[in-house]
Order: sequence, then C-alpha cells, then structure tokens
Amino acid sequence: MSRVYQPPALVVDKSRLPSFAKYKEMHKKSIENPEEFWSEIANEFFWQVPYEPGNFVSYNFDSSQGEVFAKWMEGAVTNICFNILDRNVMNGHGEKVAFYWEGNHPDDYSRITYRKLLDEVCQFSNALRDIGVVKGDRVSVYMPMILETVVCMLACARIGAIHSVVFAGFSSDSLAERVANCEAKVLVTADGAWRGEKLLLLKKTCEDAMLKAKIKYKHTVEKCIVVSHLSRVTPCGTLPDDHKSLYRWNDSVDLWWHDLMEVQSTCCTPEWMEAEEPLFMLYTSGSTGKPKGVMHTTAGYMIYASTTFRYVFDYREKDIYWCTADVGWITGHTYVVYGPLLNAATCVMFEGTPFYPDNGRYWSTVEKYKVNQFYTAPTAIRSLMKFGEEHIKQHELQSLRILGSVGEPINSEAWLWYYNLIGKGNCSIVDTFWQTETGGHVLTSLPGATPMKPGAAGFPFFGVEPRILDDNGRKIEGPGEGNLVFARPWPGMMRTLFGDHRRYERVYFEKFPGYYCTGDGAKRDEDGFLWVTGRIDDMLNVSGHLMSTSEVEGVLTEEPRVSEAAVVSKPHPIKGESLYCFIILNEGVKFDMELIDSLKKRVRSRIGAFAAPDVIHNASGLPKTRSGKIMRRILRKIAMGDTDIGDTSTLADPTVVDKLLQSKP
Ligand code: WT7
Repeated sequence: MSRVYQPPALVVDKSRLPSFAKYKEMHKKSIENPEEFWSEIANEFFWQVPYEPGNFVSYNFDSSQGEVFAKWMEGAVTNICFNILDRNVMNGHGEKVAFYWEGNHPDDYSRITYRKLLDEVCQFSNALRDIGVVKGDRVSVYMPMILETVVCMLACARIGAIHSVVFAGFSSDSLAERVANCEAKVLVTADGAWRGEKLLLLKKTCEDAMLKAKIKYKHTVEKCIVVSHLSRVTPCGTLPDDHKSLYRWNDSVDLWWHDLMEVQSTCCTPEWMEAEEPLFMLYTSGSTGKPKGVMHTTAGYMIYASTTFRYVFDYREKDIYWCTADVGWITGHTYVVYGPLLNAATCVMFEGTPFYPDNGRYWSTVEKYKVNQFYTAPTAIRSLMKFGEEHIKQHELQSLRILGSVGEPINSEAWLWYYNLIGKGNCSIVDTFWQTETGGHVLTSLPGATPMKPGAAGFPFFGVEPRILDDNGRKIEGPGEGNLVFARPWPGMMRTLFGDHRRYERVYFEKFPGYYCTGDGAKRDEDGFLWVTGRIDDMLNVSGHLMSTSEVEGVLTEEPRVSEAAVVSKPHPIKGESLYCFIILNEGVKFDMELIDSLKKRVRSRIGAFAAPDVIHNASGLPKTRSGKIMRRILRKIAMGDTDIGDTSTLADPTVVDKLLQSKP
C-alpha cells in the first residue's frame, strides 16, 4: 500500500478548488450536464457567433453505428488567437508579461508583453497572407524554443492556417515525410540554435527536407521563412568561420523573417472560425510506423486547454508559470502556448537544457523568475537526481507551489525526490496523464483538492469518464487492471487524423466499440486512484517521446546487410525505456563495431537522435509462432536479462531462446 499525501496547507489556502468534495461535485456536474458545465466557461471567451443552446455536444463512438465523430458547440464562431491576445489586451492585460524568455546562454534573455505579442502576431499574420497563405493551408514549423515560434503559431491560428509543428530534433527524413504528408505550403524555421554547447543547423535540415520532399514525395514547399537567431545569441560554442557552411540561401524560396515583419502593419483582422474548423495538427508516432497527423479543432480545444491549465496548475493572477516542454510536442502546444495564454498567464519559455552551463540550470531559473508552477518530465527529474543535492541547495526554490509531471509514469523514487527536495514538502505534485490525441490532461491530480500517491495519475479531469475494460471489453468495476478507455468525448479530444479518417476510427474506436481507446493499460486501486501502467501496443516511450517499434525496425532493415529486425523496449534508469534491437544479418555478413555504429547512425538520421538504439543484438533467429508472428513478450524478457522465459511451446523453434540468451551482448 502506498502512502497517501494530502495537499499541503499552503497550496490549499490559495487554491480555487480547495477540497476533494468540491472536485467530486464539479466532476459530477461536468458528466451529468456538460452543456451547463462548459458553457459557463465558454462565456468568458469572445464569440463572433454564439453557440446554440441545446446543441452543445454531439458524438458517435461506435463505428458500427456510422461514422465516428465528436462535435462541440457546432454553429459557434470564434478565433483562438483573438481570445488569447485581443481579448486579454482589452481586459487590461496589455502590459502584463506573457513570456520571460530565457535563452540557452544565461546572458541571453528577453520578455514580451501581451500587447507586444499582439503586434508581432498581427505583423506575421499579414506577412503570411501576403505570401498567399489562406485559411485551411498548412504551415510546417521547425523551430527552436524562441518567441518567434509562439508568434508563428498564433499567427497561423489568427488567419485560419493549420500549423504543423515538427520537433526540431527530428531528422530531415522525418521532416520531409511530415511536410509532404500535410502538403505544407510554407515552412518556418531559424538559421540555427544552440542546445547547450551543441549547434543545431535547422535551416540546413530544412533544405535537405525540402529536397527530399520534392524527390521522394513530389511535394514542393513554396516558401521557407527563416528567423535569424544565431546572430543574437552569445555563442555557446564555436561557430564555423564560414557562414556558408551553415546554410545555402535560395532567393526564390527563402525569406528572412525580419524582412517580412519590417514592412507589415500591426493590425490584422482575424479569420472567424467555425467551432469545428481545424486549429492545428501535430504528428505522433503510429504503431505501423507511418506518423499520424492528429487534428485538433477550434472551440473545444480552446475551452479545454484553458480549463485544464487553470485547475491543474491552480494558476492565480500574479503567478509565474514554467513548462519545460518543447513546443514540438503536444505539451508545448497546450501548456507552453495555448492554455497559459488563454488565461493571461505569465510564463517562462526556456531555450536551453537542464545541464548548461551547469546541472543547476533549472533551479537557477526557478529562482531567477520566482516560478510558482513548474512542469517537467520524469526523465528530466531522473537525470537531475543523479547529480545530488548540491545544485539544489544553492538556489531559493520557495516560490514553488505546484510541481507537474508528464510524459510517462513517474516512478516513486523520482516522485519522492521531486516532492521532498524540490518542493520541500510544501508543494502539490500533479501527475498529468494525457496524449497528443487528448489535447489536454485527462487523468490528473488537482493541487488543492485531490490526495496524491507517488506514481498514480489520480482522477479524471472534468468531462472525462474513464473506464477500465478487460481484453474482452468487459467493464472492470472497483479495484482492477485492464485497458484504459474513455466512454464519452471531452472538448479537447482530437477529431480526426489528417487525410485518413478511417485510420482514426480503426486505431482509436474499433478495439472497444463505443469507447475511445488510449492504448495504455491502467489499474484502479482500492482507494479509487487510477494508475497508468504503460502502453499495451507496440509503442515505446523513450524519455517521454512515443515511437513505434515497427518504425525503428523499418529503418534497421533498410541497411542492406540486415535481413530482419525486431525492436523491444528495455527499462532504462533515466530514459524510462530504451531501444533494444535484435537483428538478423544476411549470409556472410560480419557483425562488428562498424555495423553497430552504422545502424545507430541510420536510426539517428532517419528518425532523430532521441531514437538512437541502446543495444544491437546479433541474433541467429527470432522466437516466432508457427504462423510466423514474432513473440515480443519473449524478446522483452531476453532484453531485460530475465532467464525465466515461461512457456515456449507455441514457438516454431524453441531452441532459438537459448541461443539468444547466450549471444546477448
Ligand atoms: C503517451 C502519450 C501527453 C504529453 C506528452 C506525451 C504516456 C503520458 C503520462 C503519465 C503515465 C503517461 C502514455 C500516453 N504518458 N503522460 N502522466 N503517466 N503515462 O504525449 O507523445 O502523445 O504520448 O505517453 O503512454 O499514451 P504523447
């Protein structure tokens, strides 16, 4: 039995939701009367055309009954950028700081107010319109953690263009595939950026990606807009003397951001968007290897991002909030940009890494800005734990009130370290379970209201109705473990996969008709807490980044010397999971360091550095059933070094197991 931690008194005192009873009451209302619950929140926003009472939400989660869909506030018309900027400025927040920007180098920082952000967003919106971007067009974004990235996303939202941000750690191949898949008209990037002492040549990667998009996918990007970023920062390493080696300028495609901005006015009428018109798309890994373009729409996402931010971080007027996630992931979308800004929050945006210039950077930054809410990933926590307490003691962290965790289950050691050493026992920890697809938190603790258990994601957010089903789709009541599904839509859920609605239905709704299937396992304990136990499909979570085993297998087998590959996850002390790759070589091929290196390099360059395999195991055969299906359960045990393999009688050749155990590197 794990210990229950009650919300600390200091948190409860300040909380807008100071008791569990109040949470339960609100949750009940959100389920029994969604219209009443959400329309109160929706009324805070600006609507060009208000929603019609009586038709607040409609949906079908059962594909045998027709097409799967979820619609919120149909008929209403609004613009999320207008609600973030114009509305907040009109409400008197113009001079409020929207972002304190903290650069990679500690001497490089700036800030932007809501009014200034509005001006810049209008200028960039006008620039996009000038080069022909219209409502519905896709704009790919491959950018570092800089304010221009936020400006770009909000400008797209303002003119109804669909932004598709690609994490700037992805390789040119991955970028090419994503740019081509959504047929992006424009690509926005920066010349480069420093991450610690490492220089990222973003513009160069975009050039390669545009070329690959053209050759491999026959898609041409019309314009590439480039922020000149390297010029402003204090270099953190040595820049090549020759600027030409950073990128090649192509006058017919490339445009400098500052040239575009200079000539534009700071007024721009927004494009009024129907509630269910698309806001943005974001690719996430799919278990077949082909990335899925998760689509989010306007009104539902707006009220959900705003409400989850407000309650989960218990944000109060003067608080300073910091989410360390990169804008390239959904956490960066909902909890660096949309959620906080909809609440007129003041945020810290950080370009660098927790380890530069030293391992105390997170804590010196918390001290510098007197951060009240700090939101990061278990993998970051674990990687900082190993440096001991010295860096923590050097900094004043008493401004902290709420500590958030996201991306993977948090192990109890990391939870306790976070709670005791960073929070000094005075902070609530919110373990937020959600997905790119859910748009915002769906299971979480709430700071002043819910008790906490180290490692438990806690309770459903408002509007969310979780169920745990056994493999036959039977509902598990009370304590038990099974598949985590949701029985009804919540406003922030995705509406489709770009260009492939059938895949949307297949992946999320067909396994358990009538439910949204998360792909995660979960258990409910005797106190009603929900614990997410991890993926139940062939997905892997490395440092909080989801990827599919088949995607990595596909890359490994592209190597001409490899005939077959099977990838499984192996627990890793910092990354959570790591990639353990079994490969079968072609006849006569030598297995040596050169081959190992070339395979690792291949994965890095085809997917991204974060996907680099930890182990390559030269296997003579794979455990397969007589029908040829690879038994991954067995491979996972071998990867973990577990010799108790269990039943191997269904294998076509049970002797492969011993051979694999013996050949383990
Ligand atoms: C998958 C979604 C949500 C933003 C970042 C990842 C895992 C996420 C938790 C948590 C246990 C978690 C799940 C989920 N996950 N948060 N608090 N506890 N597991 O977004 O890349 O779409 O990944 O991350 O497995 O399905 P994503």
